[in-house]
Amino acid sequence: MPEVDWAALRREAVTAMRTAYAPYSGFPVGVAGLVDDGRVVSGCNVENAAYGVGLCAECGMVSQLHRTGGGRLVAVACVNRDGAALMPCGRCRQLLWENGGPDCLLDTPEGALPMREVLPQAFGADDLHPA
Ligand code: THU
Repeated sequence: MPEVDWAALRREAVTAMRTAYAPYSGFPVGVAGLVDDGRVVSGCNVENAAYGVGLCAECGMVSQLHRTGGGRLVAVACVNRDGAALMPCGRCRQLLWENGGPDCLLDTPEGALPMREVLPQAFGADDLHPA
């Protein structure tokens, strides 16, 4: 598993945040994820005049993850406009669960926490085919 350079991951998230398209909320978000093969993927939120179809930053990151070869997220940093750690919304925690699983670390205001603590009793692929 690659070593997590949190400072570098936060910097990448800030770089992504600066490309956000958030004219409606005025709330730019950036996210960066370390993949198990060492690469870093990132995303920013992209809003829409039809408010409900806006895309969270995590959607773009997960798309880049698959577009660039797949793999598993091992650590994720999500930031607001000040570069402070931002807790992903519920839907996006589900995206992180699918692509990183219970051990994926998330940068939170309380330090790095595994997804198993950030999304307890999560619904996942295993629930589709119970033993
Ligand atoms: N947003 C994200 O991009 N990710 C999150 O996890 C929380 C919310 C975006 C959606 C919207 O463009 C803006 O933040 C305000 O809700």
